[in-house]
Amino acid sequence: MIIEDYNYTKHWDKKYTSTNDEDLGWYEAAPEMTMRLVSKCALSEDAKILSVGAGTTTLIDVLIEEGYNNIIANDLSKVALEKLDERIVNMYGYNLKCITDDLTRPKRLNKLTNVDLWIDRAVLHFFLEQKEQQAYFDLIKQTVSRNGFVLIAVFALDGAQKCCNLNLKRYDVNMLQEQLGNAFHLVETFNHVFINPNGGERPYVYGLFQRKL
Ligand SMILES: C[S@@+](CC[C@H](N)C(=O)[O-])C[C@H]1O[C@@H](n2cnc3c(N)ncnc32)[C@H](O)[C@@H]1O
Repeated sequence: MIIEDYNYTKHWDKKYTSTNDEDLGWYEAAPEMTMRLVSKCALSEDAKILSVGAGTTTLIDVLIEEGYNNIIANDLSKVALEKLDERIVNMYGYNLKCITDDLTRPKRLNKLTNVDLWIDRAVLHFFLEQKEQQAYFDLIKQTVSRNGFVLIAVFALDGAQKCCNLNLKRYDVNMLQEQLGNAFHLVETFNHVFINPNGGERPYVYGLFQRKL
């Protein structure tokens, strides 16, 4: 069911206000699968890395620890980004660029250019409407540079049907390739069953693509 006028910003703000990071259903203490693909990209430390729908992810901590110095975090939820930014300033003294914006109706993200690596874990599957998916993939094509990378980790076809009480659209790697088009070449893909903080199995598909045109 698609609820046209549902306030998703409030939904996510409420979740991040009411829940400790470690208790979020998607919390990863160590984002090992994502980092496995990040290392494949062999990027320089000043590469522009955009984490979309970042929430309060520990991925940002690990990227900083690995030496990356041009990281941008986006989310629909200002609450999430404020929590993330506070942690990152306190732990690393790092000036994280945060962009509160909707990936499906971008007003600020669409000003970005020359992104070397787009990282999405557990965000795309919330976009149920065709026009939202179109806007998401259009944004990738608008912002990611030639030879840049797109890393997407999304619920697999045998994955859960809901997350955070929201319905989901599930994917396989061919569906991701079809949306990205011929300009993007698949570099690596694998399936991974994430065990969430409640012990539940959450099958994901990971895909790393590189833009050739
Ligand atoms: C399941 S969480 C994953 C968070 C993070 N990527 C991680 O792996 O820990 C989904 C995130 O997507 C964000 N989100 C949902 N819809 C969005 C949209 N339209 N634009 C940007 N972010 C969105 C939510 O606020 C939430 O932080």
